[in-house]
Formats: sequence, structure tokens, C-alpha cells
Amino acid sequence: MLKQLGELASKALDELNKVSGLKEIRTWQTRYLGKKSSLTQILRSLATLPAEERREIGARANEIKATFEIELARKKKTLEKAKIATLVKQEALDITLPGYSISPGRLHPTTQTVREICSVFGNMGFQVVEGPDVEWDYYNFEALNIPKSHPARDMFATLWVDFETENGDKPMLLRTHTSPAQIRVMERTPPPIRAVIPGRVYRYEATDATHEWMLYQIEGLAVDKHITMADLKGTLFEFTRRLFGDKRKVRFRCDYFPFVEPGVELAIDCTACDGAGCRLCGNTGWLEILGAGMVHPGVLRRVNIDPKTYTGFAFGMGVERISMLRYGIDDIRLFYSNDLRFLKQF
Ligand code: DAH
Repeated sequence: MLKQLGELASKALDELNKVSGLKEIRTWQTRYLGKKSSLTQILRSLATLPAEERREIGARANEIKATFEIELARKKKTLEKAKIATLVKQEALDITLPGYSISPGRLHPTTQTVREICSVFGNMGFQVVEGPDVEWDYYNFEALNIPKSHPARDMFATLWVDFETENGDKPMLLRTHTSPAQIRVMERTPPPIRAVIPGRVYRYEATDATHEWMLYQIEGLAVDKHITMADLKGTLFEFTRRLFGDKRKVRFRCDYFPFVEPGVELAIDCTACDGAGCRLCGNTGWLEILGAGMVHPGVLRRVNIDPKTYTGFAFGMGVERISMLRYGIDDIRLFYSNDLRFLKQF
């Protein structure tokens, strides 16, 4: 019987060793420790044995039972650990996989250009201010030396606001340029003044590749003692270089704007052909960037600044035109047609 027990133990432990799944382990447990197992049978039959044998066999059988239980528990633990390890492996995130990229939103190209231009002037000591989009005729025209009868009014296709005074005047409009804000700044601020004024302007205009009924301008104004045309040239020369690069040539030519004297137009050599002549510059080699001039003494007088003591320069530019030149955009209507495919490129 002892020998039988010994064989049983080694066979059972051998099998347990080979067990590789939790299901199999249950079968093993029934087979070797269950009610019908040989070991249980032997333990049950102990009573029928002679006292001498009973002690010996009983001790051995109980020892084997204890060993089985210990080994079974150990095996169970090992298998459970292995199972957990497999599960963890299956469920785990593979952090070496590339993630989904989120494309960040961006600022509108006009906003970007406005900010860049304002920062260039900001670095030269100009303060950024704003004026209203809905203006009085007085600020948009009269105060800028453009009285009712003046032919320069034809330069601006005006959108009038449907508002009439008692005597039938229509004095309110959507500003056609940012120049009226110059007047507002000078009315409020005694010189020295250095200001740039970005904002929307409106024109009663049929749209095409180079015309929009709403666009952005940036106005500039400097008023101080001893300001001369040289300051105007130096400031704008520096501005164009900071925005378009050191290589650019700058050209000043006479132009007419009622609120400045003398008036100039500033051009840079064409960014596409470096001045050789191409489609972008209409074969002239030059691109017009802005209008400018020395603030007209009449304008200064109107805001109670004495033109004998103070002089100033002013300039105004279209923001979309500058974006178009810098990015090679050939249709101004793209800016406000809300096509995300266009806007995403900037
Ligand atoms: N306001 C002008 C326009 O819209 C541009 C301009 C020209 C502004 C000369 C100025 C200036 O301040 O001095 O066409």
C-alpha cells in the first residue's frame, strides 16, 4: 500500500507539473483530491486496517494530501499570474503607435497681417488705436479737406446709412477709409502723436478679383515738432523692409490726396520678378503699397493743432493687398468667402 501511495504521489505531481490551464487544474483536483480519488478512498479505508499499518499508511496518505494541496495552490497561483500577464498584454495600449494629429485652428490671414504690420509700427513707437466703422460725413470727408462739392469724393464709392437730418442731409456712412480716425486721434490727443489705426472700410463697389465691398486698412499718423518728409520716407522705408525683406527697393512718387501736401505713393520693386516686369506688376516692375504724405496744414488747423509749430505725416494701406503680394493670392474675394480650404493654408 505504501508503494502504491508513493507511485500515486509521483504520478499526480508529475501530471500537475504538466498542467497548463485553469480548466485542466480543476480536472486534476477532482482526479487526485476529489471524493472518488484513490487518495480519498485510501484515507476512508484506514479504519479497516490493522492498527500498525493504519498509523503508517495514515501518516503517509495525509502527508501526500497536504503536499497535493500545497502544490495545487502554488500551481493555481502561477497559472493565474500567467493569465493576468496575458490579459494585460492584450489590453495594453501600444504607445509606440503614432497618434492622430489634431490640426490646430489658426488666425485669419488678414488678422495675421494686421498684427504683423501693427507690431512693426509698434516697435517704432506707434500706438495701436481704433475708430468707428459707422462714421459721420464730417470725419470721413469734411475734416480731411473733402467738402461736399469736392471731386475727390468720387474717389470713394460711398455706402450711406439711411439716416436723414431735419434739413434732408445724409451725414452718416460706412467709412470708406481709415483716415477719419486720424482726425479723431488728433482731436483727443495733443502732439506728440504716433498712432496706427487698423480697421474695416466699406465701398459701394462691384466685386471682382481686385475689388471687395469690405476690406481692411491700416492708417498711420505721426504729429510732432520738426517732422519732415525725411521722417516719412525713413519710417516707411524701414517698414517695407521689415515686412518684405531687406532686398526690396522702395520708390516714392507724387500722388494726390486732399488731406496731405505733398502726397506720395509708395511702391516696392515687384516681389515676383524683382523688378524685371511680369503679370503681377503689370510689366512695370513696381507694386504700389500705400498712399502717404505730410498732413495738410488745413487738417491740423481744423483740430486746433498749430501748423506753424507742428507738422506730421500720414499713410494708409490696404491689408488684403499686402497679404496678396506676400502670399501670391490672386483674388481678393477669397479672403471673405469662408472657404476653409483657402484659409487653412495660412
Ligand atoms: N485714405 C486713402 C485711401 O483710402 C489712403 C491714404 C493716402 C491715407 C494718403 C493717408 C494718406 O493717410 O496720407 O485711399
